[in-house]
Amino acid sequence: MTIKRSHITGCGAYLPERCVTNSELAAALDTTDEWIQSRTGIRQRHIAADGELTSDLATNAARKALDAAGLTADDIDLVVVATATPDLTFPATATQVQANLGVTRGCAFDVQAVCTGFVYALTIADNFVQLGQSRGALVIGAETFSRILDWNDRGTCVLFGDGAGAVVLQPGEGAGTVEDRGILSTHLHADGRYKDMLYVDGGPSTTQLAGFLRMEGKEVFKHAVVNLAQAVDEALEANGVDGAAVDWLVPHQANRRIIDATARKLGVTSDKVVVTIDRHANTSAASIPLALSEAVGDGRITRGQLVLLEAMGGGFTWGSAMVRW
Ligand code: UT7
Repeated sequence: MTIKRSHITGCGAYLPERCVTNSELAAALDTTDEWIQSRTGIRQRHIAADGELTSDLATNAARKALDAAGLTADDIDLVVVATATPDLTFPATATQVQANLGVTRGCAFDVQAVCTGFVYALTIADNFVQLGQSRGALVIGAETFSRILDWNDRGTCVLFGDGAGAVVLQPGEGAGTVEDRGILSTHLHADGRYKDMLYVDGGPSTTQLAGFLRMEGKEVFKHAVVNLAQAVDEALEANGVDGAAVDWLVPHQANRRIIDATARKLGVTSDKVVVTIDRHANTSAASIPLALSEAVGDGRITRGQLVLLEAMGGGFTWGSAMVRW
């Protein structure tokens, strides 16, 4: 029996031009390059220009993904944008991206799962493709977190950056084994009891203002290590493989120490982990597609390899996706 699977047929990324180093932040804030690098692994981050919107970042990444897939706007019937920093409260940033690209068929919507947003969006789009409801899907993670940072709070503002990454999903047939190409599994979780540990203190229904990001960093760190270990175990078990079978771990990039802990738990060595946090910082929903795009673009991830994606973010939300590339 053949089954339908979604294949990732193109990746694209976009980072705003302006790059801000830790030392530049230390000139205006009670922090040091040494503290930021040793606690997080971050060396620099990109910051969107005035007037540069989340949809602009998303559109640039999406164009590159379409080119890589050899498709045009006419081939796309689903646009999903994972973002916690939309252009406007409504309409969805995805509709602006759709208009920018000239996509006129199908549907477009945003997904809000903060740093897990890309894994949520990929899961939803994968279901559309498997059910035959999409023949060409753009899945985008795009953020302008610089707009919701309290630049006086050294505990949070040094951690995040702006950027976007995109992938194209298309249907393909296979026998349905772990050796066949495509998205093999997705697993999503949320536990709203922890919503106050990482949140934005504003919104249309509360303060009518966008608000600023607030985080109990140490608590989030502890939960991230536990939840991500569970997420990777779940993905291995669902596919009947162990850590040794994983060619690449492409984690959400929140903290180098969290990435290393998850890789250790999984049993993969650091040369099999795609790390961008040093250059991008935490770009929330954009971090995984940015990292994927880099590792596919420079030839590290190649056809037939087993790639494991995982993320954890505000809510809490967390999840994983296993892909045979
Ligand atoms: O993407 C969504 C998920 N997010 C995450 O996974 C983030 C998880 N959390 C983390 O990555 C880490 O907890 C942080 C990087 C946010 C903080 O690292 P930490 O090792 O947990 O530090 P801490 O918050 O316990 O702070 C240690 C000290 C404190 O000083 P005292 O109280 O020990 O005197 C902070 O005030 O470091 C101080 N501190 C800083 N010092 C210099 C906090 N931020 C800074 C800073 N520069 N930027």
